[in-house]
Amino acid sequence: MHNSLEMKIDEILSHLTLKEKIGQLNQLSAPKDDAGKERLKNRIRSGGVGSVILAFSSTAGNDEQRDTEVDVYNELQRVAVEESNSGIPVIFGRDVIHGHRTVMPIPLASAGSFNPKLVEQCYDCVAAEAANDGVQWTFSPMVDVCHDPRWGRIIEGPGEDPYLASVMASAIVKGFQGDDYSQKDRVAACVKHYLGYGASEGGRDYHRTELSDYTLYNMILPPFRAAVDAGVATVMSSFNDINGQPVTASKKYLTDILRGYLGFNGFVVSDWAALANLRRQGVAEDAADCAAMALQAGLDMDMVDEYYLNSLENLVRSGQIPESLVDNAVRNILRVKLSKGLFEDPYIHKLTVDRNEHLRKAYELAVESMVLLKNDDCTLPLKKSAKIALAGPFKQERRALLGSWVLDGKEEETPNLHEALRNALSGFEGSVICDTDDITEDAAEKVFAESDVIVLAFGESHLVSGERHCLADISLTEHQVSLARRAHHTGKPVIGVIFCGRPLALQAVEPYLDAILCAWHSGSATAAATADILFGDVVPSGKTAVTFVKTTGHIPLYYNATASALPNNGYYGEHPEECYLDIPGKPMYPFGYGLSYTNFSYSVITPDKTELELSALKAGERFCFSVTVSNTGDYDGKETVQLYIRDKVASVMRPMRELKSFEKVWIPAHSSREVAFEIGYDALGFYRENGEYTVEPGLFEVYIGGNCLTDNRVAVQIQ
Ligand code: NOJ
Repeated sequence: MHNSLEMKIDEILSHLTLKEKIGQLNQLSAPKDDAGKERLKNRIRSGGVGSVILAFSSTAGNDEQRDTEVDVYNELQRVAVEESNSGIPVIFGRDVIHGHRTVMPIPLASAGSFNPKLVEQCYDCVAAEAANDGVQWTFSPMVDVCHDPRWGRIIEGPGEDPYLASVMASAIVKGFQGDDYSQKDRVAACVKHYLGYGASEGGRDYHRTELSDYTLYNMILPPFRAAVDAGVATVMSSFNDINGQPVTASKKYLTDILRGYLGFNGFVVSDWAALANLRRQGVAEDAADCAAMALQAGLDMDMVDEYYLNSLENLVRSGQIPESLVDNAVRNILRVKLSKGLFEDPYIHKLTVDRNEHLRKAYELAVESMVLLKNDDCTLPLKKSAKIALAGPFKQERRALLGSWVLDGKEEETPNLHEALRNALSGFEGSVICDTDDITEDAAEKVFAESDVIVLAFGESHLVSGERHCLADISLTEHQVSLARRAHHTGKPVIGVIFCGRPLALQAVEPYLDAILCAWHSGSATAAATADILFGDVVPSGKTAVTFVKTTGHIPLYYNATASALPNNGYYGEHPEECYLDIPGKPMYPFGYGLSYTNFSYSVITPDKTELELSALKAGERFCFSVTVSNTGDYDGKETVQLYIRDKVASVMRPMRELKSFEKVWIPAHSSREVAFEIGYDALGFYRENGEYTVEPGLFEVYIGGNCLTDNRVAVQIQ
């Protein structure tokens, strides 16, 4: 049965020539100069362009990009609608990964807010800003689950857990698209990189992945499923291969699993010039081969390499490719263009955008994303009467705080930590002593000598994370470690603030720091949020969305691994010495971890029942687990209460812990709150190799606590 949308699609399609259809599958990059604009207009006029990506290079997040130009886009659109034969509007896309002019924390950080509602509100702000600047479609969210922090693109994703990744995927899609992405202040989202890109071997960008279908269905696919269920308009295929099969040319992944299994009905865009990579990957000989393989696989739109444009007509006319395949791809693209409302009003209109409100939201999310990793002897919060020595390479840094993948955020609009500390101290007795040149030992020593407490602004540049920016060593630089050592030798309290895009290996520096705040690259409000946390104006509540290893050699180390054959699962404290001879197997900081200025204690878990028949579970009955969480300290604060399960005996090995639910709760000082979780059929099973979901009877352990290492557990039985 055709609904009216499908009928409209058929009607448009029936008027298109083959050439015009192929034009719809072609995406070109933005024009750089006036001559480029004229060329693009001509190509649009002749029906050769379905979309324009508002970027000049494949790694737009790390390269200099031009501001958006609404008048130019409207003129291009006018040509498409009024002067091309088909009159089909183009769709303008841009990478708005974690913010537009107002930059939100990098997604790895915001996942650690464990606050999907706030994340959704933030992306709602981002959508409005981006739409106002001409963006109708964005290449976000990136939901690649990743177990290797050497991979530079770990910054763009939700970390190491498929459940948290799914919750965040859904929140971001809803934030961008709202209930109806045809609204002028909404943008169509694109979940990426489908599929397995975050599992590239050795954390090397664009490299091969070796993934069993079991791992794929259980670890990698869930956030894509969540995005599809949330109604994501488009999907971007990934550069990598899986088990020797480039995803760009894989019918299994792009059609069978994505459309057949997940039920996706938008369109699939390739990654930048990915069709051409099929030759480099050794599965295609020439452009025509690449185009034929990608189209047959189910890839609808070709991002910038024009292989579809240049090859498909011949392939169809010579009978090598049926025209129906082209038609299908056009249908998918038209479905999104119609749903975006482009046929009613294709133009960009200036809207009222409340940037102050957006900055407030960015601040809230930054505060909730930062993770207090260490706080010996209550070093933090700082007193506002203190004389603070501020040193370290990031003390006056602005750009890095925005993070990688920032096309529209402005360095000059981004306060640095020095300014934010001074602001926070205005009207108070305290002061910040900051020598601009603490690179030399003498300068730093002088600053330290005059102070009561030392704050070291450490971390990594945005230029060592993001696309193509992987690292073989993720420790802090030797300069920073030695600065920390010298600060420590003064005998004064030393606080390390780490601005980073990945969970850096902190083992070498940790002994010299009394307190460590992982401030991430938290966007426009990084400095203000950091200062307010340091002074206790707000209480930290972020948790790690990814394990912090001790040294790079620890990688891969992630909380949701299966048990090893002999008992040396160092992560969970069983014989950690047996993991490696030269380093204990325990992580530096586990998944779900983060301190507060207050303390939370957990009661034992009360289940409403300890047994359930599988048939009853399947019919919708649920277990209910409740705990009382008490704030035993002197600050009001937020705690993320996390529920993990362990399927003790199954037909295939299951992870030692799996996050299945969480709730972030605000608890006033010296009071308690009961938190209850309902866990049903959908949380207690796993996917088999063939993608079939199953729950097996047997014993399950349920853990509830403040991070994945909690030992607070009960056992329940499925009969
Ligand atoms: C390449 C990246 O892999 C992808 O994430 C991005 O959206 C495109 N370039 C477009 O800039």
